[in-house]
Amino acid sequence: MSNDILLEVKNLKVEFQVRRGIVRALDGVNFSIRRGQTMGIIGESGSGKSVTARAIMQLLAKNGNIADGEIIFHQPSHNESGQSKSINLTQLDPDGDAVRSLRGGEIAMIFQEPMSSLTPVYTTGTHIGEAVQLHLKPYRKVANQMGNSIRKQHNVSKKEARDIAIELLDRVGIPRAHEQVDSYPHQLSGGQRQRVMIAVALSCNPSLLIADEPTTALDVTTQAQINDLMLEIQEEYNMAIMYITHDLGVIAEVAKDVAVMYMGRIVETGDIDSLFYSAKHPYTNALLASIPRIGQVRGRRLEAIKGMVPDPFNVPSGCAFRNRCYDYMEGICDKSIPALQPINDNQSSACFLHHRVSQSS
Ligand SMILES: Nc1ncnc2c1ncn2[C@@H]1O[C@H](COP(=O)(O)OP(=O)(O)OP(=O)(O)O)[C@@H](O)[C@H]1O
Ligand SMILES: [Mg+2]
Repeated sequence: MSNDILLEVKNLKVEFQVRRGIVRALDGVNFSIRRGQTMGIIGESGSGKSVTARAIMQLLAKNGNIADGEIIFHQPSHNESGQSKSINLTQLDPDGDAVRSLRGGEIAMIFQEPMSSLTPVYTTGTHIGEAVQLHLKPYRKVANQMGNSIRKQHNVSKKEARDIAIELLDRVGIPRAHEQVDSYPHQLSGGQRQRVMIAVALSCNPSLLIADEPTTALDVTTQAQINDLMLEIQEEYNMAIMYITHDLGVIAEVAKDVAVMYMGRIVETGDIDSLFYSAKHPYTNALLASIPRIGQVRGRRLEAIKGMVPDPFNVPSGCAFRNRCYDYMEGICDKSIPALQPINDNQSSACFLHHRVSQSS
C-alpha cells in the first residue's frame, strides 16, 4: 500500500432489508482516496453514491447493513512518530466511541440536504461550538493563534468554542460573522447554510471531508464560490475530499481522481484527464455523450443514455449495464460480472471489452 493512501474501500457490499426482499445497494465497491486529494464519485441517481458515503461514516439507515468488504482508514499520525494507524471501519461498533470520535473528527461529511442536517432550534454558533467541544481537536489555525493552550488543555470552554465558531464563519465567507453566529438556520440563505455546514465539518480539521452533492441546490455562481472555498481550505490543511455529484462539469472543476458508479459498483476509475479524454467504460462514454461541449454543433441533440436503470429486484445477469450498452457481447456480458481491473497506468475498467476477468462473488 502506498503511503499516500488515506482510505481504501475494498469489495464493499451493503444490503437493505425492505418489504419486497433485499436490495443490494452496493455490490462490491472498490476505490481508494489519496491524502490531500479530491476523489470525485459520479453516477446516475440510485447508483449507490450516498450509500457509499454513509457506509464510510457508519451512518447507514437501520434497515441497512454491511454484508461484506473492508473500509480501511489510514489514520494520519498526530504525533512526532509519523506512523499512521490503519483501522478497518467495518469492524467498529457503529454506535461505539471509536466511531464517534472518528466521525466528525477525522472524517466529516456535508450531507445532500443541508436543511435536514442543521437543527432548526440551534444557532450557527451552537452547531459549530458543539462539534468543537465534542471532538476536542480544535481548528488548527485558531488553536495556534491562542498559543496552543486549547490543544494542551484538551478542553474547550463555551467562550472559546464561540470564538472558534466566529473565526470559522468568517473563514467560510459568512458576512458579519460575529452577528451571524447567533442566527438560526432558517434566517440564512441556502448558500449561507451550505457554508455553515462546511464550517461545522471543518471545525475539527478532518483529514477526509465527504461532500455529498454539496452545491446541488445552489445557483451556479454560489456553487462555484463554495467549490473554490473547499479547494482553498483543502490546500491549506491537506484535507482529502470525497466529492459526490452527478454533474460532470463540477467533477472536472474539483477532482483529480474520479470513480464512476453504476448499480452499486465502480465501473471505471482514473485521473480526471484520462476520464474526459479517453474514457474506457461504455457507461462513462454514455455519460460524457450526454453533456453539452463547447464546439459541439449547435442544435445537435444530446444523447440520452438508452434504456433505464434496472429495477434493483430485476438486475440482469452478468454486467448490470449490458441492457443499455451499445457494445454488448452476447455470451460474454450476460454470463458473468466484469471485475474492476487496471488497464493502463492511470485507469481501471470493469468491462469485458478491456479484459476477461470476472468478479468473484
Ligand atoms: N434506507 C434504505 N432502504 C432501502 N433502500 C435504500 C435505502 N437507502 C438507499 N437505498 C437504495 O440504495 C440504492 C442507492 O441509493 P443512494 O442513495 O446511494 O443513491 P445515489 O447514488 O446517492 O442517488 P442520488 O444521485 O439520487 O442521490 C438505491 O437503489 C436506493 O433505493
Ligand atoms: Mg445521493
